[in-house]
Amino acid sequence: MKSHRDQDDSWNKYWEHGFLTSCRNAFVGNYEGAIKARWVSFFGALASGDRVLDICTGNGAIAMIANEVSRDKGLDLEIHGIDSAAIRPHDTVTRNRDLLEGISFHPCTAAEDTGFEGACFQAVAGQYALEYTDLEGCAAELARISAPAARLQFIVHHDKSVVMETSREEIRNAALLFKETGFFDRAAAIIAIVGSASTPEARRSLGSDPEAERAREHLNRAAEAVSRAAEASPHPQLLQMALQNVAEAYRRCGSQGMDAGMTLLAECRQRISANVERLEDLMAAGRGEPDVAHMVAVFADHGFRADPPALIHHERGPLMGWMLTARRR
Ligand SMILES: C[S@@+](CC[C@H](N)C(=O)[O-])C[C@H]1O[C@@H](n2cnc3c(N)ncnc32)[C@H](O)[C@@H]1O
Repeated sequence: MKSHRDQDDSWNKYWEHGFLTSCRNAFVGNYEGAIKARWVSFFGALASGDRVLDICTGNGAIAMIANEVSRDKGLDLEIHGIDSAAIRPHDTVTRNRDLLEGISFHPCTAAEDTGFEGACFQAVAGQYALEYTDLEGCAAELARISAPAARLQFIVHHDKSVVMETSREEIRNAALLFKETGFFDRAAAIIAIVGSASTPEARRSLGSDPEAERAREHLNRAAEAVSRAAEASPHPQLLQMALQNVAEAYRRCGSQGMDAGMTLLAECRQRISANVERLEDLMAAGRGEPDVAHMVAVFADHGFRADPPALIHHERGPLMGWMLTARRR
């Protein structure tokens, strides 16, 4: 089982790339359509000067929607975002940066122990958030920091959602790279052979060297399998990235030497491994009907009046998750 530190580390790496949402391939920038609409109406119902907390904020996607609504409606909301990962949205996010202005981010801050004073938030938000936390601990902490009549809204991963399908496909693609084709090992083998041929004569003689020939053949076969899978996959980004990086590592080996090629290869492997860890974390967060009923019951136990869970679909149809709303008594 993965430790919290491993999970945080895979999210740290993800957010460092500056992605705005946790659904890297589904939204170009921030959440849009049906999901955004839910958040716009949630924040739009708040009163002027209200304090808002976005838990498991990542790079602040939902906090930014809160900021946009606050500006559009002149609400002057005070917005905070917390995450257990070492987030740095003000440094890493490049899109719509003006919407980050005024938001206070609190990295390395768990939703179960936020450090905020009691009863200080009029609204708590969380997109793909609650299901990552220790539910009891988080509900108790939110009860402590929520003001009377505070509103809560969470969008929660559904175990049959399109997000889960995409993640499953990407994990399958990573297995093809690492296990089935051994693509990176094949690439490392040929880079080692080419890289250790230090003179033009040695490099020329590789053309007739049986070991080099075999290694090339293995890599070509692996690359063909990866290309075929990329063509057939609805989410080929990971495979395409691997193909591009291996080609570039080979080029660098020729122009800058073996170490440069091997370094790029190692970085690419590492990036994909971290991505797989993150996606496994995400898959484990999928919730079915009994799970969300339990969430509602836990919040009720902690002094919230929760509405029955509702389903959220993408405006083009696919299931995106559950929506839970509650109010502090
Ligand atoms: C799926 S991402 C969602 C991020 C963001 N809300 C979004 O929709 O783009 C889940 C986030 O929860 C964070 N996280 C996991 N467990 C947490 C906890 N106990 N307290 C605070 N953040 C946590 C992870 O670091 C990760 O950034």
